[in-house]
Amino acid sequence: MGKKIFGYNYLATLRQGFYFVWPGIVKLFKIPFMDRSVTSFMRKVFWEILQERESNNYKRNDLIDTLIHIRKTWVEDSIKYEGDRVVAQAGQFFSASFETISGAISFALYELCLNKDIQNRVRSEVLSVLTNDDSFTFDKINNMKYLQAIVYETLRKYPVFLFNDRMCLEDYKIPNGNLVIEKGTPLCIPVLGLHHDSKYFPNPEEFNPERFAEENNVTSNFFYLPFGKGPRICLGERFALLVTKLCLAHILSKFEIEKSEDTPVPLKYRTTGIVLASTVGLPMRFKKIEKKLYYNDKLV
Ligand code: HEM
Repeated sequence: MGKKIFGYNYLATLRQGFYFVWPGIVKLFKIPFMDRSVTSFMRKVFWEILQERESNNYKRNDLIDTLIHIRKTWVEDSIKYEGDRVVAQAGQFFSASFETISGAISFALYELCLNKDIQNRVRSEVLSVLTNDDSFTFDKINNMKYLQAIVYETLRKYPVFLFNDRMCLEDYKIPNGNLVIEKGTPLCIPVLGLHHDSKYFPNPEEFNPERFAEENNVTSNFFYLPFGKGPRICLGERFALLVTKLCLAHILSKFEIEKSEDTPVPLKYRTTGIVLASTVGLPMRFKKIEKKLYYNDKLV
């Protein structure tokens, strides 16, 4: 069902494309964003879980518990917090995370299998925080600066969402030119293009995490937009970064990632679907390692 959300077929691409380029037609013909089988599945699973939790008074301290709590304590009369409005919160959390985070992890591993020096260096960082015990904590994850730079560079080279969409709310004259963007003009901001522009990222095809060394402060610039910017910035940015780093740290602490005969080089991208994906997936070889194999950049 997760895979079906951002369907990689022409019909789904067309349907979802309308949401960005022709929203009027979406309203007119009530075109669904997701395949109807996905929404029915989500509704069914959500209400079943909700009922089970409520009747057994069972808590897992997760999003569903939070939604149950909001539903019980909701006081706003003008907006009803029930039915699909509740399901949509869980549905959006799931759909916004699924393909995006797995895409970020896969593209990062892909680059690491092609750049062994970078892989060894980041594994060394990961293993260095695991010296006393086997667990990753929030602080440990946030202190791994090289791992963080790898995730940022992955999202630079492979921005899962290729563009940001905006509507111009007032006439705007581009500075130093004659171009005026008129009020009401829909805009498509080409994130992939900005991320691969050598004016902002010299030698853009090179995978180079050093670009994101903290002192360079690249992420605050408006040419780096993997999560968008401004009031409609991705709501899950910090959660997504945390989960991506956590998953990579777990994988790198246990496996060496190698290129296999099926690993696609160079990559070709799908022309269907609204998120960035390889035509043939990203097959690689995972080789189990002894934990102490790499430490301080050296084989031990
Ligand atoms: C690597 C993972 C992710 C990437 C690359 C990503 C990227 C984006 C982008 C580009 C946007 C549009 C922002 C804009 O127009 O300025 C967006 C919006 C959004 N994202 Fe994410 N996202 C990721 C993960 C998540 C996760 C995990 C969640 C939820 C837990 C999430 C929830 C949302 C929501 C709710 C919006 C709509 C915000 C709004 O319109 O106000 N995203 N995301």
